[in-house]
Amino acid sequence: MSPDLLRQYLEFYRDIGVKSLYKRDAPHVAFEAPAKALDMFEAAPAEERTGETLESIREDIGDCRRCKLHEQRTQIVFGVGNPEAKLVFVGEGPGADEDAQGIPFVGRAGQLLTQMIENTAKREGIPLLRKDVYICNVVKCRPPGNRTPEPDEMEICGQFLFRQLEAIRPKAICALGATAVRALLKTREGVTRLRGNWLKWREIPVMVTYHPSYLLRAYNQDAKREAWEDLKKALHYVYD
Ligand code: URA
Repeated sequence: MSPDLLRQYLEFYRDIGVKSLYKRDAPHVAFEAPAKALDMFEAAPAEERTGETLESIREDIGDCRRCKLHEQRTQIVFGVGNPEAKLVFVGEGPGADEDAQGIPFVGRAGQLLTQMIENTAKREGIPLLRKDVYICNVVKCRPPGNRTPEPDEMEICGQFLFRQLEAIRPKAICALGATAVRALLKTREGVTRLRGNWLKWREIPVMVTYHPSYLLRAYNQDAKREAWEDLKKALHYVYD
């Protein structure tokens, strides 16, 4: 990496308030190229509020064994935050830290997400902390080795995500990365193409942006700037 690129890289982290960086052993993995355009499904029709609560959905999940992800999980990672949040962030699935703690986005990607939310809100004059939004994932059990969730797992667990979203009915949803996009928008169109635009899940506006894990490993300065822009857009739409 050139000194100039390294400087830009470090400046980005400084800007979003990350104070410690760790040396990573894993090799750089490129984010998937924009997928070949497939037909976008029609947005599902708006549904009535279900009257369900997050507690009742969690109870229904129980000690879930509906898909093979239960075999290696430590615990189910349901979701965290304000049950009446105006903004919900949807990630892919728990990693090792989340599996250990039972809380989504608490590892390195989570630290970045938290700082992006809180620091961007602060800079934009919006009084908002992580606890004010709701954060969850497409699948609630850690895929072994952090692999991408498989279609059957997304299908089975996605029903609980949808019920959570119906229970909260936020003003907007922020889809973090390709798995969230596939689950919510039924498209295989790439994040690179969709990001920064408003789409819809059951009449709720969805802002697509990069997954924080991608930002952690991307040397691409544009992605970081773009993620920042996407978040600003979502925050102003929801909180202005
Ligand atoms: N990545 C995700 O998609 N979700 C988490 O909870 C943590 C990392």
